Amino acid sequence: MNNIYTVILGAGEGTRMKSRLPKVLHKVAGKELISHVVDCVLSVNSKKTFVVIGSGSDLVKTYLEKYKNIDTVLQKERLGSGHALLQVKNKVKGLKGNLLVMCGDTPLIKKDTIKKLLSHHLKHKNNVTVLSGTSENPFGYGRIVRDDKGNVLGIVEEKSATMQEKQIKEINSGIYCFKLETLWKALSKVKPNNNKKEYYLTDVISILNKSGYKTDAVSVCSEEEILGVNDRLQLATAGDILRGRKIEELMANGVTIIDPYTTYIDGDVVIGQDTVVKPNTFIEGNVTIGSDCMIGPNTVVVDSKIANNVVIRYSYVDGAKIENNVKIGPFAHIRPDTFLKENVKIGNFSEIKKSFINKNSKVNHLSYIGDATIGKNVNIGAGTITCNYDGKNKHQTILEDEVFVGSNVNLVAPVKIEKGVLIGAGSTITKNVKSGKLAIARAKQIVLDWKKRI
Ligand code: UD1
Ligand code: CA
Repeated sequence: MNNIYTVILGAGEGTRMKSRLPKVLHKVAGKELISHVVDCVLSVNSKKTFVVIGSGSDLVKTYLEKYKNIDTVLQKERLGSGHALLQVKNKVKGLKGNLLVMCGDTPLIKKDTIKKLLSHHLKHKNNVTVLSGTSENPFGYGRIVRDDKGNVLGIVEEKSATMQEKQIKEINSGIYCFKLETLWKALSKVKPNNNKKEYYLTDVISILNKSGYKTDAVSVCSEEEILGVNDRLQLATAGDILRGRKIEELMANGVTIIDPYTTYIDGDVVIGQDTVVKPNTFIEGNVTIGSDCMIGPNTVVVDSKIANNVVIRYSYVDGAKIENNVKIGPFAHIRPDTFLKENVKIGNFSEIKKSFINKNSKVNHLSYIGDATIGKNVNIGAGTITCNYDGKNKHQTILEDEVFVGSNVNLVAPVKIEKGVLIGAGSTITKNVKSGKLAIARAKQIVLDWKKRI
């Protein structure tokens, strides 16, 4: 069995991003750049993965703690990609096998492409195999230099390239596979002989070649996959491509997306068959949506679990669990830790926060329900407010099954309304109400004689 180790280079300054945030932590299609690369690597059966960190290293290190089996290595000074890789030398010293090197800023690379690179590298017993691509606009990328017979001689960077070399359309993806045994000696020979006084990892290829080792490059993916994100424009381009891929995947699985151009769906989102997503809709983070739902238009769904046949129109749903046949909106705001059971209806201008609402209950108009537990078949009248906050603490409101709350009611928490209670419209309820009772808490109407002054 061939041992594969992986290094992801992610210490670069990211100068071209002009950002205070480390480049690899910029999000694209809902996920940090580095995570796109890490998730790709995790599928490769790598024995161990190292990420070289530098710029904003504490933030990147903390971020990567969520992954097991990944070690970070600090590059104290940013002296180039070659110098970055050298930082890992001690970690893999004496190990035999191959080293996959990836860049933290190429989020479009696909798992299958990496697998093809590795199998080519192993099959041909190369000392290095570079993943290359063909580009009509190669500006900015390193170019693969080959001899007349097609053998790879080395890589020349844009800045050092001659006019003739600049015409080369085969570009370096920044992804390589090295045979460990011959890598370190060659890497130690890299000199900072370029304009920027950086140690270019790309120089290793010609060093290996000149030492008589097998240097190769394979073009096994589209140009799109090797797009490096160095600035905000490339970040947006990468986002566009990733979103397009997701939408195509969903459509192929039987989801209707009315307008792909105004629909933004993050990579990890799962959507069931025959669900329709209408224009101007954002589905972000960890979201699962079942079958036969209608989502949108003008809707945001974040980190939520939505079952089947749910309708959400013109609304914002965040951190909620929603069961079958629930109807939300238009213009509702469902906030974190809300659980809506089957057939619940949340209508216009209603806000629900951290509440449990049981089957068939309705909050149809202009209400705020926060920190509440609501039973089955409850009707909440228009303009009902749970007064859950006393300025210091939040308190619970409990409404048992079959309660009917009239319009414009304040429920001052903590308060418990037992089964089947009827609350008169306009009441401000401050005390618990026992089962089966009618509670009215409002000033009595008085009627006086009156004449209009002339
Ligand atoms: C690099 C390649 C280029 C290739 C392109 C593909 C070099 C010299 N050039 O250029 O041939 O076509 O990627 O996208 O490698 N890094 C560090 N420490 C450093 C400097 C860089 O960790 O001191 C990391 C960066 O975080 C990045 C990678 O190395 O992930 C490449 O560096 P970057 O500055 O983006 O190189 P490019 O100019 O894109
Ligand atoms: Ca780059």
